[in-house]
Amino acid sequence: MNQRTPLIAGNWKMYKTIGQATDAARRLVDAAGGVTHTEVMIAPAFTALSAVSAILADSDIYMGAQNMFWASEGAFTGEISASMLTDVGCRHVIIGHSERRHLFGESDDLIAQKVKAALDADLIPVLCVGETDSERETKKTFSILDKQVKSGLKGLILEAGREPVIAYEPVWAIGTGKTAQPGQVDEVHSYLRDLIARQFGEAIAGTIRILYGGSVKPENISVLMSLQDVDGALVGGASLDPEIFTRIINF
Ligand code: PGA
Repeated sequence: MNQRTPLIAGNWKMYKTIGQATDAARRLVDAAGGVTHTEVMIAPAFTALSAVSAILADSDIYMGAQNMFWASEGAFTGEISASMLTDVGCRHVIIGHSERRHLFGESDDLIAQKVKAALDADLIPVLCVGETDSERETKKTFSILDKQVKSGLKGLILEAGREPVIAYEPVWAIGTGKTAQPGQVDEVHSYLRDLIARQFGEAIAGTIRILYGGSVKPENISVLMSLQDVDGALVGGASLDPEIFTRIINF
C-alpha cells in the first residue's frame, strides 16, 4: 500500500429507478457508511442523484455523476452542467468512460473540455482511459493511453489536493468478466504515473490517484489493491448490489 487514500467508486450506469437507487444507497450507508480506510463514491443515474444525495448526507460516502457537459449553461438540450451537479450534491464526475467514447462518439477534445469545466466548478473529474482489445493485440496500448491522458488533461495546471482522478479501464475488461492480469495492470499504472510526472511534475504524480476498472469483484480486489500504483477501483456491475460492493470496499 502507498500513502494515497484509496477511492472505491461504483458506476451504476443506466440501472436503478429512484426507488431502487435509494434502497441500494440506504443499504450501502448501513454497511459501509463510516469506512475510514478508503474513500467511497457511487455514481447513480441523473434522475436518482437528488434522492440519493439526501441519503448519503450523513455518511462518509461521496456521490458522483456519470457524465456532464462543458458549458456552464445554455441551449444544450439533454445536457447537464457542472454547477447542476455540485448543486445536487456531487463531488465527482466520471468523464470519458469508454461507453461514452465508443457508443456516443465522445472525442478526446470534447473530453478535455469536460475535464477542465469540472475542475473549474470544483468537481473531481474521474478521467477514464483504456485501450480496446485490438489496440492491445496490435501493441498500441501505450500510445493510446499516452494520447488519451495527454489530450484529456491538455492545458491544465494541476494543484495538489485538487487533482483529477484517472481510471485505467481496458475496454476488453469492462463488463466481460475478463479482468486484466496483475502484471498488465501494474505495467500500465506505473506507465501512467511516469507520464503524469513528466507532464505535471513528481509532486502531482505522487498524489494523483489512478484507479483500475474492468470486471472488479470481491475475488480480485485484494490483489489489485496490493499493486504499488493502484489507488482504488472503478466498479460497474459489482457495485449494483450493496452487499457485493461492500465486500469490495472492505478489500
Ligand atoms: P464492470 O464496469 O465493473 O462492470 O466491468 C466497469 C466500468 O465500466 O466502469
